[in-house]
Amino acid sequence: MIPVYVSDVVIVGAGLAGLAAARELTKAGKKVTVLTKLHPLRSHSGAAQGGINAALADDDDVELHMFDTVKGSDYLADQDAVELMCSKAPETIRWIERMGAVFSRKEDGRIAQRPFGGQSRPRACFAKDRTGLTLLQTIYEQCVRENVLMLDEWYVGDLLYENGKAYGVVAYNIRDLTPAIFNAKAVMFATGGYARAFKINSNAHANTGDGLSILARRGLPLEDMEFVQFHPTGLAGSGILMSEAARGEGGRLYNSKGERFMEKYAPEKMELAPRDVVSRAIMKEIIEGRGAKEDPFAVYLDLTHLGEKKINERLPELRDLALTFLGRDMVKEPILISATAHYSMGGIPVDINGHVRKNPNELTQGLYAAGECACVSVHGANRLGANSLLEALFYGRWTGANILKDLDNLDLKEAKNEDAQKLLDEINTILNNNGNERVSNIREELQETMSTKVGVFREEKTMIEAREKLLELRERFKNIKLDDKSNAYNTDLQEAIELGHMLDYALFIVEGAINRKESRGAHFREDYPKRDDENFLKHTFAYLNENKIDIEYSDVKITKFEPQERKY
Ligand code: FUM
Repeated sequence: MIPVYVSDVVIVGAGLAGLAAARELTKAGKKVTVLTKLHPLRSHSGAAQGGINAALADDDDVELHMFDTVKGSDYLADQDAVELMCSKAPETIRWIERMGAVFSRKEDGRIAQRPFGGQSRPRACFAKDRTGLTLLQTIYEQCVRENVLMLDEWYVGDLLYENGKAYGVVAYNIRDLTPAIFNAKAVMFATGGYARAFKINSNAHANTGDGLSILARRGLPLEDMEFVQFHPTGLAGSGILMSEAARGEGGRLYNSKGERFMEKYAPEKMELAPRDVVSRAIMKEIIEGRGAKEDPFAVYLDLTHLGEKKINERLPELRDLALTFLGRDMVKEPILISATAHYSMGGIPVDINGHVRKNPNELTQGLYAAGECACVSVHGANRLGANSLLEALFYGRWTGANILKDLDNLDLKEAKNEDAQKLLDEINTILNNNGNERVSNIREELQETMSTKVGVFREEKTMIEAREKLLELRERFKNIKLDDKSNAYNTDLQEAIELGHMLDYALFIVEGAINRKESRGAHFREDYPKRDDENFLKHTFAYLNENKIDIEYSDVKITKFEPQERKY
């Protein structure tokens, strides 16, 4: 018999979005179970360094924040969702601050705000360069205080879903492989992003897009998956994040000729143009042979003019990371950086209240998503820095509040033992497979393919090669063999399941990118270098059909801002 645990709500993922929802629901007296494959404090929300946006300053306002976000998104964001998020941003900051988040301050005691790319005003509230960690610790402490049931090191591998209704998840305990069914009236996914599909990325090892592929395997769509953000400043070689705060505080980019090359690409905003623009500029300098002398696959990020005092005060974490992973002290010399896969604009389509969509016109019942795994869509084709912590915190809390409203009208569909069979079969097949392929090799080939053929610059020919390669890797995956067959902390098994998920959602990225024959935001096609509003001012809705992806498109919600040419 497989144990069945019943709650009102099961939340998968314990980053900012999952915990914000869990706190709201538990505080309101609901029985909530949070499942995470990590420990909550190891969630990737904690890695966001630079800030969280809110129009707080006297010379700023919500409408300007909205406009910057929509323009930054290359007009693909749904403007009703953007309006909701931006208008609730100041309240969100006050909410988390009152719960204990310590923000850096100005001389006059008000919350300090730094400039970030594509913003008309300094708008990113921050806690040195550890903003995400500060927020995550705060919300985690509040969840502990409310006695939220958080089960760490549980791996969720399947969704219970029938006739458009979700009624729980199937998971196993990573410690000893014990399976369990978590039966609930409502299920929320807050499982984070998927940039681990790329070789050079800024993401935690855990960011393997599990939630997305689990839903896709249940026939649900994924939205706008082709839009993957490349952060301009990852440490050379490793891709480890060097926060946009570095440029916000005054960091400058140089090529090997000593040219401050952003003058050519974004003369007004310079280093503080949006991420898609700066990443393309960096990659162009590298491709055209003006990469750094010490490493032709990188350019220089110079912070030396800021001085040691300011660097220690505002960017201590970055200084440490560059010293540890690059051996360079940013106080004394420029560091070496290049674009790194960072953030997933696409994901599980949800309406403005967090309900997962069954297709562009219908909603599921009892199924919700928020944070980076969801596509609401506030970021459209390109996210502005410091809008992700805002999205996770605000939409996590908001979705929790909406689940609370819905709960009385949701019945509990009872789970049966057979419901666990699909995951048990997957585990058994992987453990007992006796092929000759290694998980690590397939993963490396996948990451190499995605980085070289579906990266910052894209074109049809190489993306078709990528699709062929993915199909080959999917076949080879059926032939894997694990060394570890045990049930004690079997990370071999977990990595194999995660690789299966990566191979699924990578197909969505590639197919969405092949089909979108235009350039918009982070999706830049050398063979279609212009934005094409006539044909592609649309969201991609894609469905997994065995080895094929079926695509339909849906309209973008435009309320206040008509699309214009995007210049910086
Ligand atoms: O650059 C950064 O600090 C990252 C923040 C973000 O992705 O919003």
